Amino acid sequence: MDYNLKKKQDLIKLCKEKNINNFSNKSKMELIELLEKNNSEEYLDLNDIINKVFNTECIEIMKKIPSNSIDMVCTDPPYFLDGLGNNWNKDTIDNKGSSSLVGNLPKGMKFDRKQSKKFYEFYSKVSHEIYRIIKPGGAFISFSSPRLYHSMTMAVEDAGFEIRDMLGWIYTQSQVKAFSQNHIIDKDKLLTDDEKTKLKELCNNWKTPQLKPAIEPMCLAVKPIEKRYIDNFQKYGTGLMNTSDETKTGDGYFPSNIVTTEEIDETLDKVFLVSKPTKIEKKIYNTHLSVKPVNLISHLIKLFTKEDAIILDPFIGSGTTAIACINSNRKYIGFDINKEYIDISEKRIKDIIDLQTSS
Ligand SMILES: C[S@@+](CC[C@H](N)C(=O)[O-])C[C@H]1O[C@@H](n2cnc3c(N)ncnc32)[C@H](O)[C@@H]1O
Repeated sequence: MDYNLKKKQDLIKLCKEKNINNFSNKSKMELIELLEKNNSEEYLDLNDIINKVFNTECIEIMKKIPSNSIDMVCTDPPYFLDGLGNNWNKDTIDNKGSSSLVGNLPKGMKFDRKQSKKFYEFYSKVSHEIYRIIKPGGAFISFSSPRLYHSMTMAVEDAGFEIRDMLGWIYTQSQVKAFSQNHIIDKDKLLTDDEKTKLKELCNNWKTPQLKPAIEPMCLAVKPIEKRYIDNFQKYGTGLMNTSDETKTGDGYFPSNIVTTEEIDETLDKVFLVSKPTKIEKKIYNTHLSVKPVNLISHLIKLFTKEDAIILDPFIGSGTTAIACINSNRKYIGFDINKEYIDISEKRIKDIIDLQTSS
């Protein structure tokens, strides 16, 4: 049950029904804490899941995490219909024929008209659970594709979060996704060869409306704070942003909502660069299609959490968030529905811990 959605008088009624004492003169948050404590046997012990990754679907397991217990959620969810929810199955996607290929998108990554609405529905369920388990003032950063940012952000907002910003990770290394119409014209059985040549001339240099991707937007949302920022920060250690030297970018600049992890241009790097990923960072055994740079994730978690904070990544893929947490002395919890990726995560985690202990 999500007590956050209930009115104060309903919470008092529930306390009475459950024979909970000491509920008079309590604030709504305090009543929620009493009820949650009473329910604690329903939940997992956080100590049993901290600093581990699990091969599991994330929504059901998040229901077993205690309320207001996670400092930050930083995640890069699946964007494509074939990759959503319980139906995710890497073998099925790998075995799909070329019909699942659209433009230059890999198998399983197709856009269709239902995409945005389906993603909204899926991400509403995800965000609803995250809202319950994250602490007041806790930051929820979610990567997205520019085509689905709007539906993802609406799902996050509708779950109760305050949208604070849109962050952009910019990069120059990417594939052009726009495609020409020549192959469609070639396949058109109603056209003569002459008509085909003329149509190709007409469409020459005209492609599907897709600019070369150079930005990945992230939604920065926070769970509303309790009382004032200082009260929330004292109680939960969340709600304020770290502006110390460890989060400065480029040549010591105040962190902006644009970040880059590759050197682009002297002027831009001076302001937006978070240190470059090392070449060995990704590891040769990492077969995941969309691995994020560790330094980018480290930068984000340092901005919104203190050392020892608990960071959850419900779609951890090859374990980048876990590596970023280990590097910056934070704790992690990771879930992924795909066993192959969890195996890669565990190998990456072991490698980094071995490296730390040997040096
Ligand atoms: C974009 S990838 C994350 C990549 C990750 N940031 C990295 O650097 O390796 C999204 C991941 O979500 C996983 N996934 C898809 N549906 C899921 C679900 N319902 N529960 C948990 N994981 C899921 C996929 O297996 C995939 O690895």
